[in-house]
Amino acid sequence: MIYVDNSKKCDFNIVFILKEEDNLPSHISSIFRGEYLESIPVISGKDIPVLYVGLGEEVKFTITRIKEAVAFGIKQLKKYKITSASLDISMFLDKCGAECISEIVLGIKLGLYEFKGYSTSKSSGECHVYLQGYSGDEVKLTHEVNHGINLAQGVILARDLVNTPANMLTPHIMAEKIRELLKEVNVQVEVYDEKYIMDTGMEAFHTVGRSSGNPPRLIVMRYLNDPLSGEITALVGKGVTCDTGGYCLKSSNSMAGIKGDMGGGAAVAGAVYALAKNNIKANVVGIIPACENRIANDSYIPGDVIGSMSGKTIEILNTDAEGRLILADAVTYAIKKENASKIIDIATLTGSVVNALGFSTAGLLTNNDKFFCDFKNAYKKSGELYWRLPINDEYRNMIKSTIADVKNMGKSHCGTITAALFIESFVEDRPWIHLDIAGTAWVEPPLYEYQSPGATGAGVTSMYYLFAEKQERKISL
Ligand code: BES
Ligand code: ZN
Ligand code: ZN
Repeated sequence: MIYVDNSKKCDFNIVFILKEEDNLPSHISSIFRGEYLESIPVISGKDIPVLYVGLGEEVKFTITRIKEAVAFGIKQLKKYKITSASLDISMFLDKCGAECISEIVLGIKLGLYEFKGYSTSKSSGECHVYLQGYSGDEVKLTHEVNHGINLAQGVILARDLVNTPANMLTPHIMAEKIRELLKEVNVQVEVYDEKYIMDTGMEAFHTVGRSSGNPPRLIVMRYLNDPLSGEITALVGKGVTCDTGGYCLKSSNSMAGIKGDMGGGAAVAGAVYALAKNNIKANVVGIIPACENRIANDSYIPGDVIGSMSGKTIEILNTDAEGRLILADAVTYAIKKENASKIIDIATLTGSVVNALGFSTAGLLTNNDKFFCDFKNAYKKSGELYWRLPINDEYRNMIKSTIADVKNMGKSHCGTITAALFIESFVEDRPWIHLDIAGTAWVEPPLYEYQSPGATGAGVTSMYYLFAEKQERKISL
């Protein structure tokens, strides 16, 4: 729980210190330099114990550093088994004003995050954090805190879905969970079954999904909260609840992360939740093609040619390149049935992106500089890292098939680009951004203090800020 309460007397206090700070008592400054993520607990006489957390040099200070330093401080509470503490936010308010509130709240909520899991032994209890050191309007501050909590809940929703094992999150269960989670917000959730998927011509999606006894679902979340704008943005997230590779079976080593192959879909659900909960003015339709990629006697195999909702034919070269197949039909569905004017797709799509960019940075490809610019502003605000990769005809030629319109993989090189360009061939020239989060959706071990081992909720905050940033409330606190 997070409270806004200057007067609450706590047993423990967390204070953040820049490296340049010269007001610390000498017995502390002699052993604590304020380096980034350095900390020291100080217990002196009858005073409340204080945990000093270093923020590093002022020139390197960013709002992402606020999020990480807060998460770091909060994690120390757990270490000391402290369940209630005050957090002195005066220094953040001085430096960044109201903008820092959501970062502080994300730092607290994500720093405390643990997947509940299925262990029968008891998990740790709740932690109470009191924000202190503000001088402005308490009501406005509380309002900002609630906004931050809603965004953090969106990230947590995505993390929980991704951390859930595949046997407990079939496409049907995923759909019902999302329906349940979005019940409290102004979002129309519709779930379509395998018959609808087949009847509307989504042959590429259906071909992947039919390989399992757990049939596919198309999950659609309509959040239409800007009636005067004709613009509708589709957020299309890959929802492969388990990816065995199909007949191109993965090796047992690379099967460890197969339950996390719906990270894109989970991010879409989390972003839609946060947008709606914070009543952001936008028209957004979240679309998740959810299915399993398994083996059955009628599964698709390499060499097959299949159709798609767009009418294009696809030659299958590898059944493990299933994500682009289901996304292709979901993108066509977004255009034809939901009138999407812009499209973002997000997916744990390629191993190549991990080879190229590791676990901190996701791959991004787009056909539109203006849309990219808007999204770049959003991800700068969220602190997530993306790297734009090039598009040209050399790469487009790599996925041309001799017996169909397109094939589902190129040769062994530039796999992230060819996967994206496969999807590009279905966007019908709409402004489009493709996010490959195969590296960033899952971290073991974590890279940042606001992560925990496993799902990260990658993409939620950047997609949220794409719409929320424009309406940033400039308030003074
Ligand atoms: N879901 C995987 C991609 C992936 C790899 C996600 C590692 C997370 C971590 C995707 O469906 C896949 O298997 N892609 C293949 C494509 C290839 C066969 C063209 C890959 O990247 O190896
Ligand atoms: Zn695969
Ligand atoms: Zn996959």
